[in-house]
Amino acid sequence: MVSAQAAAQILVASNRGPVTYSVGDDGTLDARRGGGGLVSGLSAIGDEAEALWVCSALGDGDREAVRRGIGEPGVRMLDIDAAVHADAYNGIANSVLWFVHHMLYQTPLEPAFGPEFRAQWAAYETYNRAFAEALAQEAAPGAAVLVQDYHLTLVPGMLRELRDDLRIGHFSHTPWAPVDYFRLLPDDIAEQILRGMLGADRLGFLTGRWADAFTDCCVALLGGTTGTRIGVHGLGADADFLRERSRRDDAEERLAALREQIGTDPEGADRKVIVRVDRTELSKNIVRGLHAYRQLLDERPEWHERVVHVAFAYPSRQDLAVYRDYTAEVSRVAEAINSAYGTPSWTPVILHVKDDFARSLAAYRLADVALVNPIRDGMNLVAKEVPVVSDEGCALVLSREAGAYAELGEDAITVNPYDVSGTAAALHEALTMPPEERAERTKRLAAAATALPPTQWFLAQLHALTPN
Ligand code: G6P
Repeated sequence: MVSAQAAAQILVASNRGPVTYSVGDDGTLDARRGGGGLVSGLSAIGDEAEALWVCSALGDGDREAVRRGIGEPGVRMLDIDAAVHADAYNGIANSVLWFVHHMLYQTPLEPAFGPEFRAQWAAYETYNRAFAEALAQEAAPGAAVLVQDYHLTLVPGMLRELRDDLRIGHFSHTPWAPVDYFRLLPDDIAEQILRGMLGADRLGFLTGRWADAFTDCCVALLGGTTGTRIGVHGLGADADFLRERSRRDDAEERLAALREQIGTDPEGADRKVIVRVDRTELSKNIVRGLHAYRQLLDERPEWHERVVHVAFAYPSRQDLAVYRDYTAEVSRVAEAINSAYGTPSWTPVILHVKDDFARSLAAYRLADVALVNPIRDGMNLVAKEVPVVSDEGCALVLSREAGAYAELGEDAITVNPYDVSGTAAALHEALTMPPEERAERTKRLAAAATALPPTQWFLAQLHALTPN
C-alpha cells in the first residue's frame, strides 16, 4: 500500500489548510497564509522529519491552484468535487455535527434525517475516504498522522484499514455532545462516527469534560472505547506572538482609531469598553450578549454615555441560511440598541463585521470588560488572548459552557449563557470591579491562558503518539 514516493513522517489532515488562494482580475493566483496552533506546531518540528499537511481545496481559487499544480511545499490540497465537498462540509459537518456537539438544534434548524441527509452522508464518507487515501499514499512507514476535527471523524478507521503500520491521532476542536444529545443522530451514523474515531491510537480533546462525554457515548453505544487512548490538551494562547503582534504599528493605528470612535463621556473621561470578538456563529451567542447589554442600559441609566460595547462579529459559513440569518439578526439588534439609546455624542454599540486581526488585538488592549458568552465552545481562544494582550487589565465575563472555563473559571465572572438577566448583572459587576482586583485577576488569567502554548500543544499530541 505504501507508494514509492511516500516520505512524510508527520502528517496533519484538516478540512481547512494553512493556505488559501484567490484568483485576481488578471487571472493570477494570490496565496493567503493562515496562522493558528497547527501552523506554529508544524513549523516547530523543523526539518528533521518530513511533514505534510493534507487539506481540502475550499473555493474556486484553491481548485484553480490545484489544477495549475501550484502549491506550497509541505501542503497537499485535495481537489474534492465541489458538490461532494459542499454536502460534506456544509451539509454534514456544519449543519449536523456542529449542531449536535454544540447542542444548537432549535427552531429554525431542527434535526432532519431523511433522504437528503443520507445523500449528504454518502458525500461525507467520500470526502473522508479521499483524505484517508491521500494520507495512506503519502505517509512513510510508521509515520504519525494527526487528523483534525469533526470534518474528518471517519478518517482514522479508514486509514487504519489501509495502513496498519501508521500511528494515528485524532483531535477534536469542538465540544463533544452529551450522550442523550449525541443520540439524536441515527443509530447507524452515531456508531459509524464513534468507530471511525476509535480507529485512532489516540484521541485528543480540549477539556476533560468533552473527553468524558465522548467516552460516555462509546460506553452507551458500543460498550466501551476498545483500547483507544484518550488524552486532554487544553490549547493555550501564544503569549510571545500576541504581545509582539499587538504592539505593531498597524495595531497602534487601529487602537487610536477605536479610541476616537469610542469617544469620551460628558465629563471628558474615557468611556468604559465592553469588547467581544467572534466569528458570527450561533454557538457564540452574540444576540443574547446584545440583549444583556441592552438590559444593562435599560436598568442602569448611570451607564448611559459612559460605556460602549465594541462588538466584532466576523461573518462565517455564509453558504448556510441559518448563518446568514443570524448575521443579519446581530446587525438588527445592534442597530435597535443604537436607535433606542444613542445620542448625537454617544454610539452605544460599535459593530464591525469585516475581519481585521490587528483591530481585534487593539480592542483586546483597550477592553475594560471582555464578554465571552458562548452557548457551548470547544475552548474559546478569545477568552485566553484578551488577558495576555490587555494594557491595563480586563475583567472577563465568561460562559461556564466554554472549554476555557475549566482553566479560567476562578478568575472570571461566570455566566449561564442562556441567562440574559444574569449576563446583564455580570456586565455591571465587571464594569465596577476595582482596578487593583482587575489587574490581579488579569495576571492570573494570563498565566492560566498561556500554560500550554500552541507549539507545546501540538508537540504533546505528537509525542503521545510515539511508542515508548
Ligand atoms: C471551529 C472548528 C474549526 C474551523 C473553525 C472555522 O473552530 O473547530 O475546525 O476551522 O471553526 O470554521 P470554518 O468552517 O470557517 O473552517
